[in-house]
Amino acid sequence: MSAPATVAGLDQAPTSHAKLLTWVREVAELTTPDSVVWCDGSSDEWRRLTDDLVAAGTLVRLNEEKRPNSFWARTDPTDVARVEERTFICSVDEADAGPTNNWLAPAEMKRVMTDLYRGSMRGRTMYVIPFCMGPLDAPAPMFGVEITDSPYVVTSMRIMTRMGTEVLAKMGDAAEFVPCLHSLGAPLEPGETDVAWPCNETKYISHFPETREIWSYGSGYGGNSLLGKKCYSLRIASAMARDEGWLAEHMLIMKLTSPEQKTYYVAAAFPSACGKTNLAMLEPTVPGWKVETLGDDIAWMRFGDDGRLYATNPEYGLFGVAPGTDWKTNPNAMRTLAKGNSVFTNVALTDDGDIWWEGMGDPPAHLTDWKGEDWTPDSDELSSHPNSRFCTPISQCPILAPEYDDPKGVPIDAILFGGRRRDTIPLVTEARDWVHGVYLGATLSSETTAAAAGKVGVVRRDPMAMLPFIGYNAGDYFGHWIAMGKGAGDGAADKKLPKIFYVNWFRRGDDGRFLWPGFGENSRVLKWVVQRLEGRADAVETPVGMVPAPGALDVDGLDLDPADLAAVLNVDADEWRAEIPQVTEWFTKFGDKLPGVLWAELDALKARLGVE
Ligand code: GTP
Ligand code: MN
Ligand code: MN
Repeated sequence: MSAPATVAGLDQAPTSHAKLLTWVREVAELTTPDSVVWCDGSSDEWRRLTDDLVAAGTLVRLNEEKRPNSFWARTDPTDVARVEERTFICSVDEADAGPTNNWLAPAEMKRVMTDLYRGSMRGRTMYVIPFCMGPLDAPAPMFGVEITDSPYVVTSMRIMTRMGTEVLAKMGDAAEFVPCLHSLGAPLEPGETDVAWPCNETKYISHFPETREIWSYGSGYGGNSLLGKKCYSLRIASAMARDEGWLAEHMLIMKLTSPEQKTYYVAAAFPSACGKTNLAMLEPTVPGWKVETLGDDIAWMRFGDDGRLYATNPEYGLFGVAPGTDWKTNPNAMRTLAKGNSVFTNVALTDDGDIWWEGMGDPPAHLTDWKGEDWTPDSDELSSHPNSRFCTPISQCPILAPEYDDPKGVPIDAILFGGRRRDTIPLVTEARDWVHGVYLGATLSSETTAAAAGKVGVVRRDPMAMLPFIGYNAGDYFGHWIAMGKGAGDGAADKKLPKIFYVNWFRRGDDGRFLWPGFGENSRVLKWVVQRLEGRADAVETPVGMVPAPGALDVDGLDLDPADLAAVLNVDADEWRAEIPQVTEWFTKFGDKLPGVLWAELDALKARLGVE
């Protein structure tokens, strides 16, 4: 079948990759865009796209002196977060999606979405974005190609991934790639004027784990549309990782240097909007300690020949929660953003062309809020959406560790799991061993945040902070984690497993205030973690794991009420007993997929808590 003559650019493909060419042609024929553009990732292309987006009203160019080459974007008020209800894992067998994912049979989903895609790019340009998750010089580069009709997505992908001509060249004419199809679902009729943020009420974020494909429709924002991020690097990659014996996780990666100049690498999994970006860029308050950043959201981890677990960050940019980011809480993020080259979405615009959000010092007398309305400090509404985000190149981070783009990765010494809990969970707990650590991860709970559409503040289980991102049956995922901890295989070196810890920066007093100051002060917890690795810090055994012994946590110079410190470290057996029915119900969901050793962990916990 030949393409309609009206699709300009379809035959000017700068590649001879047959599978890619066929797919691009098929999508163009289905979605019928006006033209096809192969993205090269150049600064000329960036200039062209951002100029067009400014003309279209999607972007506003910020004050060049304050925010060079930076832009303010506002979405449709209904398109502000990941849509978990509309996210599907379309495995062939429903059991492979498991009880925590939405499922539809692949053929059925493809039928429904093919109908939606038919003509969905009419009146628009179709962009082809060749990208690579992780360094391009990796032994097996992880390619993807996103087709999208959103120029906003192209500009965001240029910040968040390695993309363009070099990637396409490296793909040659036969490299495997993950096809990522995205359409806003907002065709333009001839003569129809566009809106600033086109999208569709109907949304689907679909994953086909067996064929490693992603189909997204109807949303233009964040993880719904930047398909290299959650869709590829977590949902599809987790299925690849299960098959190939590695881990794709919702984790930051950081480097710690102690006063003795010893270096450690830590990975940490917290649910969306629970502190990864902040911890990754932390400015330690404990003298003599240094933190460097490698990643703030996603870690891919494989065992090396030396038996250690090596982590790489597949991303190339930071897509961070804006509200709360400030010189006091996250000065390194502020320094990163001051260098420009960033897109700010759903924050507020100041009258002098800069950005502002809640938590960034005193509010100016007047702002344009995220809905485009006038805003003053007297306004009842927030100036910025709680899930407003900055999108900025990681290379601009002033504390970026030089090894961040080493394809080999960095050997992880400790893994932290954490959530947002106002009660029950102590500031820090050390797992007794790998299986106990997997138990802590598998039962991780957190209060929901604005990062996903839906109710905020509801406690839910969010295993390994991966609930919305596990691309297969979560019971099998727990089994995979258990298997990863098993010792030496045939001739392989003995595994040297990271130690696992569970943290909670968000415990509150009866009056509702946070008991722990958090942010830079979290370096005190990191110090205890490192000293535990070195066998130098004391812990006390509790029914739920090891917590810092009295005096073992360095609180020198910290203005903290001793009663608050005790409360934040406290293991309250009654609170823990109250969790047992929820954990039992949670585990029961997975039937015989749940590894028996996790039931055994729960039984042992019940025995320690004196629960029948
Ligand atoms: P995603 O990017 O959505 O995966 O989230 P994230 O884990 O990177 O969360 P982020 O670091 O952006 O933090 C989200 C919110 O938690 C922000 O409003 C922060 O100000 C707040 N936060 C982060 N760290 C702390 C902390 O140590 N204590 C308190 N109280 N709040 C924190
Ligand atoms: Mn995230
Ligand atoms: Mn983040």
